[in-house]
Amino acid sequence: MIELENVCFAYEKEIALRYVNLHIEKGDSVVIQGPNGCGKSTLIRLLNGIIFPSEGRYLYQGHEINEKALKDSRFAKWFHQQMGYVFQNADTQLFCGSVEEEIAFGPTQMGLPESEIQKRTEDCLRLFGIEKLRERPPYHLSGGEKRKVSLACILSLNPEVLILDEPLAGLDEKTQEFLIGFLKSFHKAGKTLITITHNRELAHTIGTRFAVMNEEHELNML
Ligand SMILES: Nc1ncnc2c1ncn2[C@@H]1O[C@H](COP(=O)(O)OP(=O)(O)O)[C@@H](O)[C@H]1O
Ligand SMILES: [Mg+2]
Repeated sequence: MIELENVCFAYEKEIALRYVNLHIEKGDSVVIQGPNGCGKSTLIRLLNGIIFPSEGRYLYQGHEINEKALKDSRFAKWFHQQMGYVFQNADTQLFCGSVEEEIAFGPTQMGLPESEIQKRTEDCLRLFGIEKLRERPPYHLSGGEKRKVSLACILSLNPEVLILDEPLAGLDEKTQEFLIGFLKSFHKAGKTLITITHNRELAHTIGTRFAVMNEEHELNML
């Protein structure tokens, strides 16, 4: 489903990915670990189509993902709906006036019928236990609440792949447990997960395949 072939990426002169090869099948749960600055977040941005390989190829379901492909707005819409990306910092992702609007935003952009938008919004509010927050402005919520809202926003798009960058960082124990349970059920439903984490417990509970990046910006499967 996801294929990286000898992918390199550099910011100006700063190399961040060096000849990365990665093959992910539908239903895999891949955990990526590695020291700070090795290129994990860069890899995630690339998988999500925010940046593109400077060398090598990235294929998603057989389609090459590059700047040109994502200029086709129908293709870009499909691709971004397939890939759910949870930012390391939820603040950069939340911008609507209320939690409810925030969750409905993606489905509205997808052009879904009003009844479907309402159904998905209610389902996601319930799934994350945030019904009480529905009218609150997202930027005034606590860190854990924001994380739940940003996950709810992504899930309302019904993505095929969920990509998470340090999902447990800054969450209290109860919210962490809730999130781990949620990720397990997402994976059980046959969906694909890609998670960056330093948390060993999380890695072992949800991972089915493991990869490590090193300081040379190379990726190795374990
Ligand atoms: N926007 C950027 N501009 C220039 N260099 C960057 C940028 N983002 C990351 N880098 C550099 O690329 C390398 C990989 O960063 P990153 O992917 O964030 O690593 P990780 O997530 O593994 O900590 C680091 O050397 C970092 O300083
Ligand atoms: Mg990072």
